[in-house]
Amino acid sequence: MADQFTVTPWEVVGSIDYDKLTRQFGTSRISIELKERMKKDFGELHPMLRRDFFFSHRDLDLVLKDHEQGKGFFLYTGRKPSKGMHIGHLVPLVFTKWLQNHFKTNLYIEITDDEGFLHKKERQWDEVQAAAYDNILDIIALGFDPNRTFIFKNTEYVRNVYPLLLKAAKRVTGSTMKAIFGFDDSTNVGISMYPVYQTIPTFFEKKRCLIPCAIDQDNYWRLQRDIAEGLGYNKTAAIHSKFLPPLTGVTGKMSSSAAAETAILLTDDERTVKNKVNKYAFSGGRATLEEHRKLGGDTSIDVPYQWLSILFEPDDAKLRQIHDDYRSGKMLSGEMKMLLIEKITAFLKTHRENKKKAESQIEIFMKSGKLAKEMWTRTYE
Ligand code: TYM
Repeated sequence: MADQFTVTPWEVVGSIDYDKLTRQFGTSRISIELKERMKKDFGELHPMLRRDFFFSHRDLDLVLKDHEQGKGFFLYTGRKPSKGMHIGHLVPLVFTKWLQNHFKTNLYIEITDDEGFLHKKERQWDEVQAAAYDNILDIIALGFDPNRTFIFKNTEYVRNVYPLLLKAAKRVTGSTMKAIFGFDDSTNVGISMYPVYQTIPTFFEKKRCLIPCAIDQDNYWRLQRDIAEGLGYNKTAAIHSKFLPPLTGVTGKMSSSAAAETAILLTDDERTVKNKVNKYAFSGGRATLEEHRKLGGDTSIDVPYQWLSILFEPDDAKLRQIHDDYRSGKMLSGEMKMLLIEKITAFLKTHRENKKKAESQIEIFMKSGKLAKEMWTRTYE
């Protein structure tokens, strides 16, 4: 059926009805009033907020209240290491960076090497560790504040949090895990326990935590909100994005499996980007030039246009012009693709340079920077 879709932390398929999803998950749409309030707090809104790509939340109003009352809050996001990050993974990270810049808050980035290892039967430990290192470089290359950001691997930082992890785990039964995550008797017991660890960074400070992520991660925050107050902490807040669609069409999400045809990886060179976009990008253009000039293209299903609007064209006036030119038939599908190729290529060139520099910064983010240093002295009971 056309309106059938699935969104879990492991699977996103189908044509997603985001309104229906917020109702199913029990989250709230980001209202116009909330956006106005954020605008007052920090001036111009990020394009992903202006354009409703970040569309849903839990307790964002309470985060703003804490901010307005001078109590502050902190940010938390994460990444499950795998070979080659794709541009969809940039969505929560670039948005988080923008929030950190505006609010000057601490940020914790969890690298779930445990999850990466446990999740796939065939994954070897060394492979996951190599991917973690490479992903961390990609994350640092995006330019977070080195004194206010702590990046940590779960298997390393566990020594500081193990007592708290156990206290949290003791509050969660197998039936809760089944209900929230759909685990069954064939799930390995490592992955059955893992979700508890993903809640732990929300307890790193007594302030309220705000988590930017795509909506597929919300199951974890439901679990956190079940146990937080019993442990003496706040229920976490979250701000959810939609999914950057795969190259091949506006349904589902870009994902690392089938990356050769559907995703742009941060390691793709200029030629690969050009080939992938030209060959696989689903276009809203018409079948013939004549028809296109007459009827115009459909931006709502045109993947290159969608990617420009989500990630690569922050200027509203320019985006509007592209939209109008395409809709009127003045701009052709090949021209839209070319525009996207140029934008991605320019982004990836800078990213590669920044990633090289990141090698010398890894120590700062993970061990010696102001926040990182402090985190290694902390334990959590
Ligand atoms: P992972 O590594 O699968 O994904 C990392 C983040 O990227 C988001 N994401 C996307 N966003 C937009 N469009 C897409 N096509 C797309 N694909 C992935 C995910 O929602 C996620 O925010 N278990 C987590 C790792 C994690 C985490 C966290 C994520 C640990 N702690 C806290 C967010 C916040 C995972 O497997 O993410």
